[in-house]
Amino acid sequence: TSELDFVAVRRSAEPAAATAERSMAGLRDEHGRQRSRIAAGRPEAVARQHKLGKLTARERLDLLLDVGSFVEVDLYRRGTTGAHTDGVVAGSGTVDGRRVFVYAQDFTISGGSLGAAHAAKIQKVMDLAVSTGSPIVALNDSGGARIQEGVLALHGYGGIFRRQVAASGVVPQIAVVLGPSAGGAAYSPALADFTFMVRDTAQMYLTGPDVVAQVTGERVSHADLGGADVHGSRSGVASFVHDDEPSCLAGVRELLSLLPSNNLEPPPALPACGASTDHRPRLAEIVPVEPNKPYDIRSVLAEVVDDGDYLEVHEHWARNVVCALARVDGRVVGVVGNQPVVLAGVLDIAASQKAARFVRFCDAFGIPLVSLVDVPGFLPGTEQELGGAIRHGAKLLYAYCEATVPRVQVILRKAYGGAYIVMDSRSVGTDLSLAWPTNEIAVMGAEGAVNLLHRRELAAAEDPARLRAALVADYRSELMHPYHAAEHGLVDDVIDPVETRAAIARGLAVLRDKRAETPRRKHGNAPL
Ligand code: HXC
Repeated sequence: TSELDFVAVRRSAEPAAATAERSMAGLRDEHGRQRSRIAAGRPEAVARQHKLGKLTARERLDLLLDVGSFVEVDLYRRGTTGAHTDGVVAGSGTVDGRRVFVYAQDFTISGGSLGAAHAAKIQKVMDLAVSTGSPIVALNDSGGARIQEGVLALHGYGGIFRRQVAASGVVPQIAVVLGPSAGGAAYSPALADFTFMVRDTAQMYLTGPDVVAQVTGERVSHADLGGADVHGSRSGVASFVHDDEPSCLAGVRELLSLLPSNNLEPPPALPACGASTDHRPRLAEIVPVEPNKPYDIRSVLAEVVDDGDYLEVHEHWARNVVCALARVDGRVVGVVGNQPVVLAGVLDIAASQKAARFVRFCDAFGIPLVSLVDVPGFLPGTEQELGGAIRHGAKLLYAYCEATVPRVQVILRKAYGGAYIVMDSRSVGTDLSLAWPTNEIAVMGAEGAVNLLHRRELAAAEDPARLRAALVADYRSELMHPYHAAEHGLVDDVIDPVETRAAIARGLAVLRDKRAETPRRKHGNAPL
């Protein structure tokens, strides 16, 4: 088919000038018609794409970009498919007036498969994105490496991956998976800073269900192996999951509105809204004083940020930690909060990975960090330990330790043990540590500490329960009282909860011009 297509497209693209008398009007006319024809695509292939529940590459770009802002490159580029564009629409446009570089794979041309010309186009826009300091948005809908092109297709992927890594931390990279993204091709979204997926139509896996069945005998559906829900809630591969393409592309626009264009520019700010004097009585009602009673950290988050508005990253994965982009007094911040309603807010493998990647993103792009701490520790158990909880927990520790952006820590309630240290404590370099009068910072909770320190006395006691209660009370009043850490300068201030938003806003304003010099090195060796 592709050979026939090739011939057909070549014929239809023969310049009119070759046969008719040359005139500017005629050339312009033919030029216009040819462009429209290429952009319209083959009607039956477009119909099939729509039947699959998917939009075309150009319809997607229309939804993503400001109206009329798309500037295409390489429309005429041809590769082995013979079709113009070679199955990827590439160029730049604006989102809320800010430039972005984009490419949208066109499934209607050889399944959006990637060959040498297709890859060269992608690489061209990636290079332009980096040299102009603009985000890259990739709309993926592809059967992967174009089989007929063999090693040239693989080489094309490699060149994209290398550019993605070189652009990492320089310009934001957003991958949007809107169809298949199979095999090694899935590594392109994996290397992006954020990955969006659409329910029902998007799939990502290294090997599809057929290969899985052949190799392991396991029978699994496309959706269960690589659908948006499994990647959004189980594997953590998808940072955002949407029901349909329009809401997904609107989500990309929203995310872009919170990101800087590159690592040398600040994120777009809105006018200050008086946060530094904003008292929020509700904050005193949300968090129960009892350390083990759950509440939703997102209600605290909503009180702290402007208009209660925030964009949660990985909303459905590792829900025991919440990572969100929001604004405080008009300026973008990244918020990391322990979530007491899920697993009591413990840190585990997934939560550490999720928060570490978020912290590193914010740091790379100059987004200040606010950490809302209420954490009982790391999740115990063989599953965690044998799964490498130490290695993964170290990622979060590493991420905070190396972050040089302004950092504000707010200890709402519990902060025990290693998890206290990791959650942006003074020792790992927070710039401003605030605590509520409900804070409890200790090596471990009072009950556990007393059981460990007084095992023999408790075993010998006539009334162990009474002794335990007395010892717990002593421990609390000596080591866990709310001013203990502040007395040692490890907390800068104990604040009235209703002043949290104001205190964070003031702290961020003070830290705005923070400069941090780090010694020269090739790169650190984060525990990946
Ligand atoms: C060439 C391809 C292609 C590919 C699809 N097509 N994938 N052509 N190379 N990789 C073509 C089909 O032949 C077909 O052409 C058209 O695209 C539409 O594909 P269909 O199969 O009809 O569509 P659909 O039924 O929707 O199935 C989509 C699909 C399936 C699930 C993606 O096409 C598929 O399994 N493709 C192969 C996936 C794969 O194994 N890719 C290699 C992965 S390895 P016509 O002419 O009929 O319209 C890889 C390595 C990357 O990518 C390495 C990076 C390091």
